[in-house]
Amino acid sequence: MTDHRSSPYPKRVRLIEVGPRDGLQNEPTPVPLHAKLRLLEDLANAGLNYLEAGSFVHPTRVPQMADSDQLFQQLQRRANITYAALTPNLKGLERALAVDADEVALFAAASETFSQKNINCSIAESLQRFEPVISAAAAAGVPVRGYISCVLGCPYEGEVSPDRVAELAEKLLRMGCREVSLGDTIGVGTAGDTERLLERLVPQLGADALAVHFHDTYGQALANILVALRHGIATIDAAVAGLGGCPFAPGAAGNVATEDVVYLLNGLGIQHGVDLDRLVAAGDRICHTLQRPNASRVARALLAQR
Ligand code: HMG
Ligand code: MG
Repeated sequence: MTDHRSSPYPKRVRLIEVGPRDGLQNEPTPVPLHAKLRLLEDLANAGLNYLEAGSFVHPTRVPQMADSDQLFQQLQRRANITYAALTPNLKGLERALAVDADEVALFAAASETFSQKNINCSIAESLQRFEPVISAAAAAGVPVRGYISCVLGCPYEGEVSPDRVAELAEKLLRMGCREVSLGDTIGVGTAGDTERLLERLVPQLGADALAVHFHDTYGQALANILVALRHGIATIDAAVAGLGGCPFAPGAAGNVATEDVVYLLNGLGIQHGVDLDRLVAAGDRICHTLQRPNASRVARALLAQR
């Protein structure tokens, strides 16, 4: 008998690989440029077509990203891949444009204290700073992505209301961000929290305008992603080997591992274009370079079989 029920999930998902930026920005010891370039190459070979490669922030605030200018200059670019970077202000955008970043990302926060700690200004001031960045990026033909941090909780203020996130996301989209990525920066959110947030945001803004960005501190990221998929969200940020963390969010673990997301999507029959074996190899190599354990459960399981 034919099953006429339609799937509650998107047919295809776009994976935004943030490992080279979010994944490496908080590493305690300097990561050599050649290792970053090799990681980008490995991720491209695995089929990822959106690589957040670096960030043009203050070099002493995030030393690990201080070589993003050189990294963009030395990249072996591929035509089908978007190489993106974070740009907190006009100075950051100028640096990104000077090295031909394909796309830039602004980052705001849903909590005032986190905004101050992260980018040294209030939420309102950050929006003022973003206006000229968006205009200059548009003039240069460079698309802009927006992030909102602390959407499910703040390390300093605790609970964050969905209304607050909705208001900020709407502003970023109206200002010209092509999509807004919802960041659970400290990885505290549960499936119930994600449900409440998306029940509030998706009817107002539409699933196509939203992406999700879960850190996995409490091990809830995959459950949260499943909720997001059921809301029709088809853009997911992840970092190979579950690398990552934010220097200004104490206690936050890495991003959800891209390998784990790919395994989840495979099980749901959702297309994504990534070769899991090559992705696992990419994660394995960077973990050896960094001499840190692989945080992807899927990668650990598959590597143990070899
Ligand atoms: P500021 O001190 O307020 O900036 O920093 P300023 O405009 O007052 O300038 C002070 C000095 O910094 C000046 O130099 C500027 O030229 C310089 P001086 O005249 O004193 O010699 N400066 C810069 N230099 C290089 N690149 C720049 C730049 N801007 C100013 N872009 C700023 C403001 C945002 C720059 C600073 O606070 C900063 O760099 N913060 C780091 C933020 C960061 O990278 N956080 C981690 C990424 S966000 C994240 O991980 C969350 C996310 O993953 C989502 C999630 O998980 O929720 C995205
Ligand atoms: Mg993050």
